This record gives sequence, C-alpha cells and structure tokens, in this order.
Amino acid sequence: MPGNNQTVISEFLLLGLPIPPEHQHLFYALLLAMYLTTILGNLLIIVLIQLDSHLHTPMYLFLSNLSFSDLCFSSVTVPKFLQNMQSQVPSIPYAGCLTQLYFFFLFGDMESFLLVVMAYDRYVAICFPLHYTSIMNPKLCVWLVVLSWVLATFPAMLHTLLMARLSFCEDNVIPHFFCDISALLKLACSDTLTNEVFMFITGTLSIVIPFILITLSYARIVSSILKVPSTRVIHKVFSTCGSHLSVVSLFYGTIIGLYLCPSATTSAMKETYSLRNRDMKEALRRVFCKKKLISGV
Ligand SMILES: *[C@@H]1O[C@H](CO)[C@@H](O)[C@H](O)[C@H]1NC(C)=O
Repeated sequence: MPGNNQTVISEFLLLGLPIPPEHQHLFYALLLAMYLTTILGNLLIIVLIQLDSHLHTPMYLFLSNLSFSDLCFSSVTVPKFLQNMQSQVPSIPYAGCLTQLYFFFLFGDMESFLLVVMAYDRYVAICFPLHYTSIMNPKLCVWLVVLSWVLATFPAMLHTLLMARLSFCEDNVIPHFFCDISALLKLACSDTLTNEVFMFITGTLSIVIPFILITLSYARIVSSILKVPSTRVIHKVFSTCGSHLSVVSLFYGTIIGLYLCPSATTSAMKETYSLRNRDMKEALRRVFCKKKLISGV
C-alpha cells in the first residue's frame, strides 16, 4: 500500500496480557514478587559462588553465568510491563522496542547455549572423571563462555537490524506484554519474508540444536551408567545432574508450552531448584555462619 508508508511510527502500544480488570492488582503484586525473587535469587547465587572458593568449579562458574543471563533476561521485559500496567497509555518508543528485541534474543540465546555448555560439563564429569580437571581447565571454561556470548550476539544483532529495515504504517498495537518478534512482523507493512526465513533458521540453531546436544550428552551419561551400574555413580549423577536437568526441562518446557507466559514465572522456579541444591545450601551456611571447614572436599 503506497502512501501508507508516509506515517512514521514513533511508538508502539503494548496491550499486555488478557487479565480481567478485577484481577489486575493481584496480578501486578504477584508479578512484582516473582520478578524480585528472580533478581534476588540470581544475585544470591552469583554472590555466593564468588564468595565461596569451594564453588569455583566449572559447574558453578557456568551456573553463575546462567544466573547473570537469567537476571538480565527477566529485566528486559518485566520492568517495562510492570510500568505499563500502572500507566494510562501502555506505550513503548520505537527504539525501546528494538532494544527489547535485541536483549531478548541476546540473553535468551545465551541461556540456551550455557545450558549446552553445562550439559557438556556434566558429560565430561561423569564419563571421564579422571580427566575432568585437565579437560575442563579454566582456559576452556572461559573460552566456552565467550563463545556462547559471541554466538548469542549474532542472531540478536541480525534480528534487530532486519527489524529496523521494516516500515510500520498505521497499526502500532502489539497484543503482547513485550515487543515480541512475531507480533512486530505481523504489524509491519513491508515485506517480512527475509525476517521470517531468518527467524526460522536462528530458531533452529538456537533452540533445536542445543536441545539435541543436551539430549545427546545425557544419552551418553545414561549409557555410561548402564555399563557399570553402581549406586555410587548413580548417586553422583543424580546429585550433580538433577538441578541441571530440572532447569533444562523448565527452559524447553517453557519454550514449547508456555510461550505466552511471563518469563519471570520460570525464572523464579529455576532459583528454587538452584537454591535447593545441597552445595549451594552449604555455601550459604559457610558464608553466613563464617564456619571454618576442616575438610577440603
Ligand atoms: C562466567 O564463567 C567464567 C568462566 O568459567 C568465569 O570466569 C566468570 O567468573 C563467570 N562469570 C560470572 C558472572 O559468573
């Protein structure tokens, strides 16, 4: 439609979630509580891991990175949503929308790649216990984290640049609580084929491939247990992989089933899992009680 292109959209309206007006206050309080839990829980995990030298192992350093990404990921969308729930006109500037898009993909993909790195770490720990420290050396750990950041930057950048090319005409109403890429593509009045193809490709690369890699590494872990079934090994697998597996299933469960739900919900659940972990509880005790530990294990 030529002529329509003259209109320059300077802001979008975020309609939010379909919550009945009588439940708005309750929902706001719940969402705020969940968001604060996410932030405080993740901060606690990061601080604990930094303070306690027993937790300076690859698994916990990766977990700390995951907590950082998770903290940032929730902060991309939830604060703006909370603010919009309180305002008469729930708007977001055009630049704000693109910024949300960029950081949403950056931190979302970062979480996805870190989960793969953590699965690889567990695979090495269970299948090559004697070579674990030499394989997962500090250099490789830093390299894996940097690689995850770099890999997450590309799709985020390209999605944002491709979105910035599109023109938006009259319709600026997003039926969502954040600048969701598919909602934005529906509003655009220029050709969105490139964006959709790219969305399909990166969706595959950043969701399906990590999922396959995680499944493969757990398949190797399970087959190595089945070869030499011993209660000690099984116990070790459950105690070190249990929390990772819960986070992985939550992460993919969320993507598959609850795409429409606020991200803070799952994040809050994730913290519960991380903090329920025995090592984290002990670290908490050590940090707060300042007890000297005799054993070095
Ligand atoms: C992320 O992981 C790297 C490599 O293991 C580690 O050096 C760094 O301290 C971690 N960063 C955070 C914020 O936990």
